[in-house]
Amino acid sequence: MHNSQNADFKWPDHYQAIFHETITSTNDVAKDMAVKGAASGTIIYAAQQTKGRGRLGNQWISPSGNLYYSLLLRPADLHAKDAGQYSFMAAVALRKLLSEYLDSKYDIQLKWPNDILIDHQKISGILLEAETKSDGFLEWLVIGIGVNLKHAPDHAANLSKLSPKNSDIHGFAKALTGLLHTGIEHIQKDGFEAISQEWLSHAYRLGQEIKLRLPTGEGKGIFKGINENGALIYTNEAGEEKILSSGEVFF
Ligand code: BTN
Repeated sequence: MHNSQNADFKWPDHYQAIFHETITSTNDVAKDMAVKGAASGTIIYAAQQTKGRGRLGNQWISPSGNLYYSLLLRPADLHAKDAGQYSFMAAVALRKLLSEYLDSKYDIQLKWPNDILIDHQKISGILLEAETKSDGFLEWLVIGIGVNLKHAPDHAANLSKLSPKNSDIHGFAKALTGLLHTGIEHIQKDGFEAISQEWLSHAYRLGQEIKLRLPTGEGKGIFKGINENGALIYTNEAGEEKILSSGEVFF
């Protein structure tokens, strides 16, 4: 482990980044630190995880050389129902960064709720975890991000195979932090609307048919957009507009 403030590159102000070559899960360590009172802006990032976690209880296979990154935030006055907005903000920031590594012939799309795809193959996933106070507002929020910088499972995208630019883990994490910082300021100052519009302008299968895996079984719908909390808006086969919040459905 080392404190990256001492490395030969500078991180944005107000962020304290700690690098581990190998870790259990950057989200687990960041959450543990949050409970113990770590400051907003603490970043845990690693080159390898032994217990990486994905959404919906999935494992996140985490070989050495990819980026595993978690940012702890303590946003003032963020209600739990609005917390999902931060994963859309992170997806937009990550998309911007990836676009700096890739030729414009590649299509970088955002798949609801929080995957980043390059030419239909997943390159990155986001796992948001939070603790809520009794009044419904957040005590802390951890934004966990995995990016396939050097390795990818079958049918997933690998940045080093697509980009001529060296995807150095420290440089990538530092640039990501800068873009997240801009996104956080944007959302806190101007609200979710602009970020939601930007996310939608790159949304995968917007206006098209999607298959939904619902608690009641499989269904089909047309993907219409997202609402002010980031929930999915679709029309069902009867043409009725429906809303599903993240975690209840995926396609
Ligand atoms: C998903 O697509 O299911 C979300 C994957 C999130 C993986 C990242 S890697 C860094 C952080 N630590 C974890 O254990 N998970 C997240």
